[in-house]
Amino acid sequence: MKFPIVRPRRLRRSETLRRMVRETRVSPDDLVLPLFVVEGKGVRQPVASMPGVFRHSVDALADEAKAVADLGIPAVILFGIPSHKDARGSGADDARGIVQRAIDTAKKAAPALCVITDVCLCEYTDHGHCGIVEGAEVANDPSLERIAATALSHARAGADLVAPSDMMDGRVGAIRASLDANGFEEVPILSYAAKYASAYYGPFREAAESAPAFGDRRAYQMDPPNRREALREMRLDLEEGADALMVKPALPYLDVLAEARREFDVPLAAYHVSGEYAMIKAAAERGFLDGARAMDEALVAIKRAGADLILTYAAKEVAARLVR
Ligand code: PBG
Ligand code: ZN
Repeated sequence: MKFPIVRPRRLRRSETLRRMVRETRVSPDDLVLPLFVVEGKGVRQPVASMPGVFRHSVDALADEAKAVADLGIPAVILFGIPSHKDARGSGADDARGIVQRAIDTAKKAAPALCVITDVCLCEYTDHGHCGIVEGAEVANDPSLERIAATALSHARAGADLVAPSDMMDGRVGAIRASLDANGFEEVPILSYAAKYASAYYGPFREAAESAPAFGDRRAYQMDPPNRREALREMRLDLEEGADALMVKPALPYLDVLAEARREFDVPLAAYHVSGEYAMIKAAAERGFLDGARAMDEALVAIKRAGADLILTYAAKEVAARLVR
């Protein structure tokens, strides 16, 4: 059967019809809002390269957590920016560290909110790398102990879910073992499994003050041209006990996400990263495109490709449009 019998346009003629045959919908339930936490009191400091994104002090996080929960967004992911940095990233597993205090504040303000923590050392090390530096290299095995201690300290502080983003080999297994040995066998791990060495993290590194002081992250994050390797990383993380997997960034890697969707039956997250957000905001500010439409289209594409969860700086604005 073909034209003039078949006319796909028949089902596009009104918004009612389009609603009826729409295959994918983004819901606030799908969204996770990243939050940057800084030292100080009453701080709500805009991030220049990310319009609409702020760095909050721990006390200011209470209102933000409530606002997020009121919009129907189920989860936040916390990134801490400590005032002190050193070679081993001691602030990362400090029981009174910035993220540990932020978890407590967020949970008290919005008890039902799922508080996820990003587990990494780069915000806490003076060299800005995601692990322990030995010579000119980020040493894998010595980093595992620090990463596992950080995840455990987040769990002790009340984190509902931990998300390692360091890309050391074996870190999911190390974290799982340390959580289980300390009574946190129910705390799930969302692994940044397919995390690429991407140019799109630029604005984040400004916000988190975590740019590497020398070199780059290409010796531990994945090489952008590789797809098979991403599936292997994801398989390994599942074998080590990951409960959910992440692909990061999102839009430039939708092929990886779609293939992971076919391959694995665990929940998949996609991180619509800082640079992806900043591109849309910057173009919208210059009048080059409709920012709200472009943002909604980006998120529905990420969901259509197979994401169950979308980490995005646009979570609040998108949720606000959806509940309207
Ligand atoms: C830290 C981390 C980064 C991001 C999330 N966790 C930065 C990096 O790897 O350099 C990037 C998030 C974003 O760009 O929005 N390991
Ligand atoms: Zn890192």
